[in-house]
Amino acid sequence: MASRAKVRGGEKQQQSLSLGRETVEELEKEAERRGLNKSQLADLLLNGQLTQSADKPTIISIMSYKGGVAKTTTSTCLAVCLSELGYKVLVIDMDGQGNVSQSLGVYDPRSEEACIADVLYQATPSSPRMSLSEVMRTTDYENVFCVPSNFRFADADTRLKAEIAGGVDTRLLYAIEDLIDETARSGERKFDYIIIDCGPRLDMTTTNAIVALEAGNNASHIIIPIKVDGYAIAGLSQTIDTINRTARERRRLPQHWKILQTMIERNTSAYKYGCQMMKEAIPNAEYFNTKIEKSTVVPEASLAMEPLIKYDPNSKPAISYRLLAQEIEEMNA
Ligand SMILES: Nc1ncnc2c1ncn2[C@@H]1O[C@H](COP(=O)(O)OP(=O)(O)OP(=O)(O)O)[C@@H](O)[C@H]1O
Ligand SMILES: [Mg+2]
Repeated sequence: MASRAKVRGGEKQQQSLSLGRETVEELEKEAERRGLNKSQLADLLLNGQLTQSADKPTIISIMSYKGGVAKTTTSTCLAVCLSELGYKVLVIDMDGQGNVSQSLGVYDPRSEEACIADVLYQATPSSPRMSLSEVMRTTDYENVFCVPSNFRFADADTRLKAEIAGGVDTRLLYAIEDLIDETARSGERKFDYIIIDCGPRLDMTTTNAIVALEAGNNASHIIIPIKVDGYAIAGLSQTIDTINRTARERRRLPQHWKILQTMIERNTSAYKYGCQMMKEAIPNAEYFNTKIEKSTVVPEASLAMEPLIKYDPNSKPAISYRLLAQEIEEMNA
């Protein structure tokens, strides 16, 4: 399986040089951010010292205003399934609940370890801002890395707002770009996928995760997990509004998003009626072909603090998450 990822990386070397910045104005901003003038930036680009699009990961932000719809379960399962396909994956925990960090075994209840808060703002007046690579941890799963979160990130929205002059927040985007450049310079294997697990809110943590997709390749996208019921549909339109509003503020096209149906009970009339309602409410939505079945094995895995894929690899939802990873892999083809 590892060779599949490798071959694919080779094919991408044909692609053109790009920083993911599409306008002259954005290139100028990039030069300013890196403390360079335009010709220095151009030199670095021409000498291949800045990230080429071939080195960019696929970034997947998993978000929904509605809580408890399997954002974290999907983040963890997808990370482990993609690593099983031979990819190197980084999971960024953007939720102060730290659930994805818990299920990957890197949650520190005493919150002494550095976390995403230390990257995005000064977590305490004396603490320095850190890079993602300084905060990143290995996990028990080969090729799965995690930037953890904990309750120090619980007031992230207020803290992020306090340290920004205005406009859309690009701190996570720039932290990821720096990580990509750093990995390329060090000669280490690049990350194939970066998965960002958001909390159930539409605040600065979520907009950071939307804008962060700009650091990824063309297959980067947002997954909106949805448990098909009336309340989830209401949360869905608010999530889509946030994605569209962020795009307008960035003067870009909205990031590509797709709905993942989770906890489905396929043959029930409630599920069938819910699907119909969803089609009427959001007629142009794209859906993953894969749907995740409801099963008691999922809460059991979370009680055991283990990714479902390891806890019960042959369960129906585990098999579906593997199919989802393949569907996502195909988006890169
Ligand atoms: N396929 C499934 N079948 C049954 N239960 C599930 C399934 N997927 C997730 N769950 C359960 O639903 C609950 C919520 O899941 P999860 O924590 O992944 O959601 P979330 O969207 O990340 O929540 P939050 O909004 O709090 O971050 C958990 O108890 C989890 O075990
Ligand atoms: Mg969660």
